[in-house]
Amino acid sequence: MNIKDSWLKSGYVDEQVPTNIDIKKEIIRLKEEKDAIIMAHFYQKNEIQDIADFVGDSLALAQKAAKTDAKIIILAGVHFMGETAKILSPDKKVLVPDLNAGCSLADSCPPEEFQQFVNSHPDHTVLTYVNTTADIKALSDIVVTSTNAKNVVDSLPKDEKIIFGPDRNLGNYLNSITGREMVLWDGACHVHEKFSVEKIVELKKEHPDALILAHPECKKPLLLLADYVGSTAALLNYSTSNENKKFIVATESGIIHQMQKANPDKEFIPAPPNDSTCACNDCEYMKLNTLQKLYNCLKFEWPNIEVKEDIRVKAVKPINRMLDISKKAGL
Ligand code: 13P
Ligand code: SF4
Repeated sequence: MNIKDSWLKSGYVDEQVPTNIDIKKEIIRLKEEKDAIIMAHFYQKNEIQDIADFVGDSLALAQKAAKTDAKIIILAGVHFMGETAKILSPDKKVLVPDLNAGCSLADSCPPEEFQQFVNSHPDHTVLTYVNTTADIKALSDIVVTSTNAKNVVDSLPKDEKIIFGPDRNLGNYLNSITGREMVLWDGACHVHEKFSVEKIVELKKEHPDALILAHPECKKPLLLLADYVGSTAALLNYSTSNENKKFIVATESGIIHQMQKANPDKEFIPAPPNDSTCACNDCEYMKLNTLQKLYNCLKFEWPNIEVKEDIRVKAVKPINRMLDISKKAGL
């Protein structure tokens, strides 16, 4: 396929979508014609979540990518999620709507520096959060997501020495709930770190009947304030199973779409960030994906994710270890 210079420059197919088509119907038609599956993370725009065949957290997306029969996987999420799908399903074409959809947490862990970190802890097991590049996964012993991180840590002998990266907040949280002393890489997600504890305390005064839900990528003071801490899928499940009618949600605001759909009678209030007058906290990388880019990526089958085979062979092992532990834990 001849990749246009303008596409390469922009990182997505920058063709005008015809104005006379019903874009949602066309996406569904193309997807069926090409035997493609559209998978979306909970942080995607509402219209992308609604058109997707499957919406889930990082673990569910990896599990689905490992077992789908579709010829093409469209991963509407960020780059590392597309890479994970490609590592697990190398024979499939894995497309992402916009190559610029990166992740500040993955960026906070450059491979050369992480290699030095690993080298300086020779007798340690290397645990890494799924929010990393394929190169980092290739340096790891086991990958975790926020849904299974505790199960993975608990599966290791109590005296096993562990290094954990790249998220210092998730690492600290795991240390506190497992009683471990994992050595932590000093990385973070800029979205989860910018929630304002002060504004959330004010919000709680206005809504004393609301429970605070927080993702473990948030800073410690917020996690201490939270009534429940968990992955996106865990927060969604908790908001449904808990009888409370009001929740303050401290994670990227996209998850509220599924919470509201599952619980039309409940109120979900996005926790505010500290840097703007905006009421909610969006990941600008996740929100780069649009229906137009999704349509074009299906139509032109670009951008596709490639992972070098030597890296893929190393990276698939720690991901498969994670999937095995998750299966045993019933996740
Ligand atoms: P989950 O695994 O909870 O979906 O988290 C993914 C993520 O990127 C959080 O910022
Ligand atoms: Fe990465 Fe944070 Fe965006 Fe999740 S919310 S994709 S961790 S930058």
